[in-house]
Amino acid sequence: MLQKYDDRNASIKVWIKDKLVDRKNAMVSVFDSSVQGGDAVWEGIRVYRHGVFCLDRHLDRLEDSARAMAFSDIPSREFIKNAIFETLRVNQMTDDIHIRLTLSRGEKITSGMDPRLNSYGSTLIVLAEWKPPVYDNDKGIKIITSSIRRNSPMNLDSKIHHNNLINNILAKIQANHAGADDALMLDNYGFISEMNGTNIFIVKDNVLHTPHPDACLHGITRALIIETAKDLNIDVRERNISLTELYSADEAFGTGSMGELTPIYEVDGRAIYDRRKNHITSILSDAFHKLAINYCTKF
Ligand SMILES: Cc1ncc(COP(=O)(O)O)c(C=O)c1O
Repeated sequence: MLQKYDDRNASIKVWIKDKLVDRKNAMVSVFDSSVQGGDAVWEGIRVYRHGVFCLDRHLDRLEDSARAMAFSDIPSREFIKNAIFETLRVNQMTDDIHIRLTLSRGEKITSGMDPRLNSYGSTLIVLAEWKPPVYDNDKGIKIITSSIRRNSPMNLDSKIHHNNLINNILAKIQANHAGADDALMLDNYGFISEMNGTNIFIVKDNVLHTPHPDACLHGITRALIIETAKDLNIDVRERNISLTELYSADEAFGTGSMGELTPIYEVDGRAIYDRRKNHITSILSDAFHKLAINYCTKF
């Protein structure tokens, strides 16, 4: 599934460092750390007509990632919020918006890995675009299992939401070649971890299961779905899940800010067959949309 291009995005303004610029001038230096080494952290944030969704949770995670990567110049929460609100106001964006928020370690005085070469402060990018949820959430998606493993703390901890996305991109390329919508990634032990851009849940015998967040991003939508399920008295278990359990699940779905809740109808050629017909995915999706308003920050 290729994302559709919205013509309105041709003339957007983008926040770079400390000001808004036209899209055609929205550039970073060849010396920027994001170009040199993917040395940046990011968040994907959705904007609904009630405001920016889970803003503080996203900014907490951005700051945690930047601190884990020892960034010496993390802009204040107030500065980042102002940059986001200003970008949305100037572009007159109110609903169906997706923000790609990036904080790079900044520009270097000369190319090289050493963060001590960064003497110009960090680079903040607020890229807001008109972009409704990217998947067809009525039809759902089909996925294949990738041979690329999702990072565990043994190599590059998936708790850091960094811009070094090559393993996820390689997995997505495998999905494209296989004619699938997305790729499922396993952890180092062969248990399911997440998809290349979303977390994964399965439903079996009325119980909701999701992998421990050991080798996957601790998704904000994932956390909200767990909270919502508990409120609805749905039994939730975080545990190791094998591929066989996914193949025989009653329901399976992905979660993320980009696509919200997306049903999975096929994995590696096996149809996900809802034996119970309890439609827990739709129940959770409806509940999620109702509660979203409570998590929006007005601007
Ligand atoms: C690899 C990966 N997994 C899951 C997610 C979903 O996380 P969230 O629900 O916080 O958007 C993302 C979002 O950026 C992601 O990149």
